[in-house]
Amino acid sequence: MKELTDKLADGHALAEAEYLSLLTCNEREAEYLRQAAQAVAQRVFGREVKARGLIEISSYCKNNCLYCGIRAGNPRAERYRLTKEEIMECCRQGDALGFQTFVLQGGEDPAHTVEWVEDVVRTIRTAYPAKAITLSLGERPEEDYRRWFNAGADRYLLRHETIDRTHYAQLHPTAMSYDNRLRCLDSLKKIGYETGTGIMVGSPFQKLEYIAADLKFIERLHSEMVGIGPFIPHRDTPFRAEPAGSVELTLRLISILRLMLPTANIPATTSLGTLAADGRERGILAGANVVMPNLSPVEQRKKYSLYDNKICTGDEAAESRRLLEKRIEAIGYTLV
Ligand code: 5AD
Repeated sequence: MKELTDKLADGHALAEAEYLSLLTCNEREAEYLRQAAQAVAQRVFGREVKARGLIEISSYCKNNCLYCGIRAGNPRAERYRLTKEEIMECCRQGDALGFQTFVLQGGEDPAHTVEWVEDVVRTIRTAYPAKAITLSLGERPEEDYRRWFNAGADRYLLRHETIDRTHYAQLHPTAMSYDNRLRCLDSLKKIGYETGTGIMVGSPFQKLEYIAADLKFIERLHSEMVGIGPFIPHRDTPFRAEPAGSVELTLRLISILRLMLPTANIPATTSLGTLAADGRERGILAGANVVMPNLSPVEQRKKYSLYDNKICTGDEAAESRRLLEKRIEAIGYTLV
């Protein structure tokens, strides 16, 4: 199995069956993989972890994804929508804390017209000419993506969730289209966004074969960012009784992705930190290089509840930067 790790480290690509072998390798081999990925991350980024300020701008969503706590069909979800002024206040706080990237994430909120988002992006761009603006607002027509790009957005996150068509239909209502999702990713790349995609690890009905195909897809897309985290059930969704995904498998995937895409930005995600107290640190040691502390207004944070017990006010909160810094320093890295 060492050969597969070495082959991936050298050629940044494997056959689907080889990815599958890596996913199922024994612990000793997984440790070899992890060390190889850690070495690549340190060669590319030094021992530095980049912080992105996450602003969750709306918990309204027109979609009804079966896994997600803010699905339209959850009447118990508390809804909020930040105003432009509130978003700008989050940016001011983020700027004061030293963040160089703002990530605007939200449900697919029908109130977010193309003009409104465009205006918000342009206002942030004008106020902070040197910062990166990342959007994560779901599926939109290509024209919307283009206008937001022209207004100053640089990056876009849109997880494909699964590359298997049957699996996609098991996770999403029939109103959602697998083809449209992939079309959106194509559009984003074509327009010139740095594009991020990714999956949940251990989502219901997922098979390791699907993950191997997801890896092949990400390899071909050559995405600049890859977000992966374990699935965690939410009590008010149809998947409430499903088991959470595996931390170990998530870490293994981070390592594979790091060897496949040495320069990609790979976060140690909030869901990884929710499922294991030391999840983010272990993510970094497996090859991740990004953390995304929460910059949303504290009184709204609990409402952005994608899954149960989502952490939002501990070390991962942006205002607790010093705490996060200490944890990252404890494993020999610095937060930038
Ligand atoms: N567990 C883990 N991740 C989830 N997401 C949505 N619901 C859950 C859940 N229950 C992820 C999806 C989405 C991202 C914003 O959050 O992958 O793309």
